Amino acid sequence: MQKAVKGHAIEARGLSKIYRGGRGQPPQEALKGIDLVIPQGSIFGLLGPNGAGKSTFINILADLVNKTAGEVSIWGFDIDKHPRQSRASIGVVPQELNIDPFFTPAEAMELQAGLYGVPKSERRTMEILTALGLEDKADAYARTLSGGMRRRLLVAKALVHNPPVLVLDEPTAGVDIELRKQLWKYVRELNERGVTIVLTTHYLEEAEELCDTIAIIDQGDVVACKPKDTLLRMIEQKQLVVRPANGAPAPDLDDFKVETRADGCFVVTYSPEDVTAGEIIARIQAAGIGIDDITTQQSDLEDVFLQLTYYREDGPNPNGGQAGRAGPALAPSGRGPQA
Ligand SMILES: Nc1ncnc2c1ncn2[C@@H]1O[C@H](COP(=O)(O)OP(=O)(O)OP(=O)(O)O)[C@@H](O)[C@H]1O
Ligand SMILES: [Mg+2]
Repeated sequence: MQKAVKGHAIEARGLSKIYRGGRGQPPQEALKGIDLVIPQGSIFGLLGPNGAGKSTFINILADLVNKTAGEVSIWGFDIDKHPRQSRASIGVVPQELNIDPFFTPAEAMELQAGLYGVPKSERRTMEILTALGLEDKADAYARTLSGGMRRRLLVAKALVHNPPVLVLDEPTAGVDIELRKQLWKYVRELNERGVTIVLTTHYLEEAEELCDTIAIIDQGDVVACKPKDTLLRMIEQKQLVVRPANGAPAPDLDDFKVETRADGCFVVTYSPEDVTAGEIIARIQAAGIGIDDITTQQSDLEDVFLQLTYYREDGPNPNGGQAGRAGPALAPSGRGPQA
């Protein structure tokens, strides 16, 4: 494994991308001067709604898209000053399944190895194909591969030059559960061998399962970048929904957010790490309020994701595809996003 010159696998500073609008379309600002640091050895998740700018970021790393401004280095190599080294340090599995149908997987691997100048003696075509469960298909035409097999072949191709950083743009989109688990296992193995992994996904449980750090991108901005556990702690907010006896008004509980619902219930948002439901109930009773009924609700990664993206202060995300969904009236308070 190559030694990094600096301590980060990937470092982007003030990175912006404006696509020129063609055919009467206005220019599109896909990345708005983002800063993002991806630590070495991490399995880093990049989440965000459709059109957030994830693939734009990845395609800049892969040298498929030219940035408009800012600086990017991969494994310590600035992509402008040291393009050869930075490109050699990264393997990218693109979102699009672009495979030449007339090559067999083994041929495609050899071709890719040639492009990256990997000497014949150092090629590991069969080893990699086997690791990805494609050994039986090594000599079949790529057009005869299923969608999931094609995706695996793209992962295999990204690994031919043994890069210290592997970037996967939606590796498991449209992939069945068994293959998804296989890919997760392989990604973990690679990571244990020292490969830094960056992946985008729309499956929040995938990010939760695999990633140690998660960045959420929305409308070209990084709206959160935190260790997964910190993000999950935001998620661990709960709500206590109380139906007060005799329609009593909501009490003022100082340090808790209390909201009254249209049906007369009130909702107390709390963090189970800090306080138990029992303590809150005792506080409500101490305020002289009788309780007719009580339930709890738990936020999950989806709630946090929606709170940080679709329900940002500057209005609904037009690309979010969530239009029509009622906002989370009970969104956790007090812990705003930190970019
Ligand atoms: N080649 C292009 N020309 C013009 N605009 C583009 C181009 N590629 C992407 N965009 C625009 O840039 C924005 C970001 O797109 P991008 O593909 O980076 O999003 P994404 O986060 O990967 O979304 P998804 O989850 O759908 O893959 C979108 O508004 C998109 O329409
Ligand atoms: Mg994308």
